[in-house]
Amino acid sequence: MTARLLRGGPAADALLAEATARAARLPAPPQLVMLRLGEDPASVSYVRGKDRRAREVGLKSTVYALPETTSQAELLDLIARLNADDTVNGILVQLPLPLHIQEQTVLHAIDPRKDVDGFHPLNVGELWSGRPALRPCTPAGILYLLDHYGIPVAGQRAVVVGRSSIVGRPLAGLLLHRDATVTVAHSRTPDLGAVTREADLLCVAVGQPHLITPDMVRPGATVVDVGINRVLGEGGGKAQLTGDVAPEVAQVAGAITPVPGGVGPMTIAQLLANTVLAAELQAKGRAAR
Ligand code: GUN
Repeated sequence: MTARLLRGGPAADALLAEATARAARLPAPPQLVMLRLGEDPASVSYVRGKDRRAREVGLKSTVYALPETTSQAELLDLIARLNADDTVNGILVQLPLPLHIQEQTVLHAIDPRKDVDGFHPLNVGELWSGRPALRPCTPAGILYLLDHYGIPVAGQRAVVVGRSSIVGRPLAGLLLHRDATVTVAHSRTPDLGAVTREADLLCVAVGQPHLITPDMVRPGATVVDVGINRVLGEGGGKAQLTGDVAPEVAQVAGAITPVPGGVGPMTIAQLLANTVLAAELQAKGRAAR
């Protein structure tokens, strides 16, 4: 048996169609501002992809490509100006940041109402209290994808491998909020296979190519592969993208997200949906003042 493929494209299109219909009811197109420091190739490519998609669906997108040597004070000053600018609805600072900048200080500085990444401690707290408004894009996009394909979450045994603050931890929180029974495993988990074999829903966000092999997956389980690893092609050829899950897992799983084309499109779509939601909440907040 080969697993059903959970492609991100159609689910992302559905999410974006909902978001753009809502955006059309706002007085002006929502504006997303992205800040990137330095020229890390992955960050350049991610920000370009988000910017292109935002424009395609009719949002306003502005990218600040700042030098790697930008000081923390300069970055905080720019964020303060964007916080105060009513035409800016969403602010995203692409991570990782250069080592001379404290990530937590920067994430604290973004107005939580414009925090379309859901990384501000206030939004992290809201998520764990079960009152999420702006939710981190990859985890929220994964839940949309599962719902789109009718994969049940409530009552399922979910195992999340990886505990990053961008994916693993918030994904565990959202799954818990949706009544899954959640286990979080990570690089220090002994006998990882014994834990992952328990999963009805296995989500892997580690950044290690082919960490999950068929023997680690319960037959029929749903597997969500968040890994995007650049590896050299056969014989040292052109770099290829591959996930954290070995391709042979598709022979065991009941459903699986491909890499590329699975979770990736969901992250971008959710970011744009968050930008629309932020704009809606800000418009309501202004009306109440
Ligand atoms: N770097 C890798 N993933 C992300 C993300 O979702 N948001 C931001 N801001 N930076 C990232």
